[in-house]
Formats: sequence, C-alpha cells, structure tokens
Amino acid sequence: MKKTILVIGGTGAQGVPVVEALATDSKYDIRVLTRNASSNDAQQLGSLPGVSMFEGNTYDENTLRQAFKNTDCVFVNTNGFAIGEKSEIYWGIRLYELSREHKIEHFVYAGLEYGTKLGNFNSKYRCGHLDGKGKVVQFISAQPTSPMAWSVLTSCMYMEALSEFLRPFPDPENPGTMVFTAPLGGGKCPLIYLEDYGAYARWMFDRPAQSNGLELHVATEDISWKNLAHAFTEVTGQKAVYKDVTLDEYFKLGILDPTVKVGHSTDSTDSTLLTYRENFTGFWNTWKDNLTQRDYQLLDTILPTRVKSVKEWMRRTGYNGKPRSLLKDYRDRAAKA
Ligand SMILES: NC(=O)c1ccc[n+]([C@@H]2O[C@H](COP(=O)([O-])OP(=O)(O)OC[C@H]3O[C@@H](n4cnc5c(N)ncnc54)[C@H](OP(=O)(O)O)[C@@H]3O)[C@@H](O)[C@H]2O)c1
Repeated sequence: MKKTILVIGGTGAQGVPVVEALATDSKYDIRVLTRNASSNDAQQLGSLPGVSMFEGNTYDENTLRQAFKNTDCVFVNTNGFAIGEKSEIYWGIRLYELSREHKIEHFVYAGLEYGTKLGNFNSKYRCGHLDGKGKVVQFISAQPTSPMAWSVLTSCMYMEALSEFLRPFPDPENPGTMVFTAPLGGGKCPLIYLEDYGAYARWMFDRPAQSNGLELHVATEDISWKNLAHAFTEVTGQKAVYKDVTLDEYFKLGILDPTVKVGHSTDSTDSTLLTYRENFTGFWNTWKDNLTQRDYQLLDTILPTRVKSVKEWMRRTGYNGKPRSLLKDYRDRAAKA
C-alpha cells in the first residue's frame, strides 16, 4: 500500500525540494502542513501529483493530532526563526513523541549542527537556531531505532542563499568588482544545494534499512570565501573578491537587524530569546573555526549524482550573483510590511 508522508515545513525553502523529491513518482502520498493552503507557495506545491495541503498551525497539538491521522512517515523542519530556540527544542521533542504515539514508521528530522557542544560549550559559539535543532538531535539519537525508525538530516547554509543572505555586492569604489563579505576569516563554510538536499531526504524514506539510526551531515562543498570569489570569477568572468570583516563590521552592513530577537512569532519579551547579533555571532564563529565535518565519501555513495562543488552548482544554475527570493518567511514579511 502507498505510504503517506506528512511534511512539516514543506512550503519553505528547505521543504519544497523535499516534497518535490518525494513527488517525482507516485510512490508516496505527501501531506504538507501549512498555515495557509491558498498562499502562492502552497498552491504551487499542491499542484504536484500526490501532494495535498493540510491547513493549520504546526505549533499546536490539536492540529498535529489531526494531521498525523493515517500518516505513515513524517519529515520535520521546524522554523527556529519563527519560534525561537526554546520552542524549537520543545516542538522537536514533542513531534518525536507524537510520532511514537501515532505509530509512525519513520521519523526524519531536519537537524542543524550543535555548535556550542562542538565548541566545548564556549559561549562564542552559542547560536540559538543551530543549538536548538542540535539539542533535539541529541534527544532523537538517544532513542531506539524500533518500533519507529528515525533518521536525522543535518544540513548547513543553503547554496541558494548566495542570491539572498550571502549575496555579493558591487564594490562602491570599483563597481565592476563583486564583493563577497563575511566574518569568516580563513574558515571553510559548508553549503548545500537544495535539490540534492531533497534527494537525500527521499533516500532516507526509500531506504529505511540504511537510514534508520543515521545522522547524515550533508553539504555540497566546504568552501572558503576566497575560493568562493574565485569560483564566481571563473564561472561568470566577472571580477570578485572576498572581504573578511569583523563581527562588528558585519552587523553594520544592514544584512540583518542585530537588535531584533530571533523568534518573530513569539513573545519578544521572553528573556531566553537571542538577538540577531548574539545568534549570528555564534553562527559565524562556528563556521570560522571549522567546528563541523561531513563525510563526502559517504555522500558520494548515497547520491552519486550529487553536485560536487560550488563551481559546478554555479554553472548548472546560471548563478550570476543577482538577488533572488529564497526564504518564504522573508517574502511573507515583505508582503505584510
Ligand atoms: N537559511 C538557511 O540557510 C538554513 C539552512 C538550514 C536550515 N535552516 C532552518 O530552516 C528553518 C526555516 O525553514 P526554511 O529555511 O524552509 O524557511 P522559509 O523558506 O522561510 O519557510 C518557512 C517555513 O516555516 C513554516 N512556518 C510554520 N509556522 C510559521 C510561523 N509562525 N512563521 C513563519 N513560518 C512558519 C512555513 O509554513 P507556512 O508559511 O506554509 O505555514 C514555511 O514552511 C529554520 O529553522 C532554519 O534554521 C535554514
């Protein structure tokens, strides 16, 4: 019998390629939980064969109980930028528990690196949106692999963010040169091509015997920003440089508002919420100090067709450094403003 997979976070930048990968044939029925089934993103996704929308708030137990009915497998990407670290830990664990209660066969959790733990609990690595998911991964990894299989798909920054959050800007003194600015020093940062991310998720559901009990760390390539600028020039023919900046300089660029709290859908007076300055200080320090690791040999075995470098991705997608919308959250908030 056909299995039904419930996808949480399915309308987002990360969820869409997962849903698309699951819908490439008629093997699964895919149910996507969304707050608004008539949004453009939801409608586009809902037009794929085998994909249906389930309207409701993810962070509400009654909604989840309804959504879990007649579900065989679950993919979970909670939104830490909406709910903050504390709620992300709560809901990650609660979603695991509800899955067990509803006799789900396979629970796949979209994880992120537990930077603080990797950095020996030095506060310079404290990043709520990484640590929150990282702590949930610790909880899941401590659970048995039967009667419910679990897998963790730990990712990193999206390669597509090179057109949004990570995009280069023309050098004001020399507009023919594009500048990739980051507080990364000589660190190598992993980036993941989202289409491949979706394919790894599909592999997990297709191959539970191999993916059960596995935390898979995925990326396309770990790349220094100096090499990123070189790759850009090689592919586009346009001059580019890397500008290494301090965190203070970075927060003055206007890419993020450093004073705002991470967790836009929560009570902003919650004292556990980090500001963007606090959160992204830990974030960039984690990558700058190369705290994380991936097993590219294993990734080659699982997905031999994977895109293997940033350069290959730039060629394949016609990347030109121009701005392009990626995160649904950004689009939704821009539409409201
Ligand atoms: N940016 C990156 O490079 C990156 C990399 C790895 C992991 N992540 C993680 O991915 C998560 C965000 O997912 P995404 O990248 O797919 O973001 P996105 O494109 O902005 O999508 C946001 C998703 O969250 C859902 N959502 C549920 N309740 C929400 C609420 N109250 N407010 C806003 N959105 C809500 C949205 O569903 P509806 O609007 O349909 O309800 C949508 O599916 C974060 O936890 C982030 O840490 C991000």
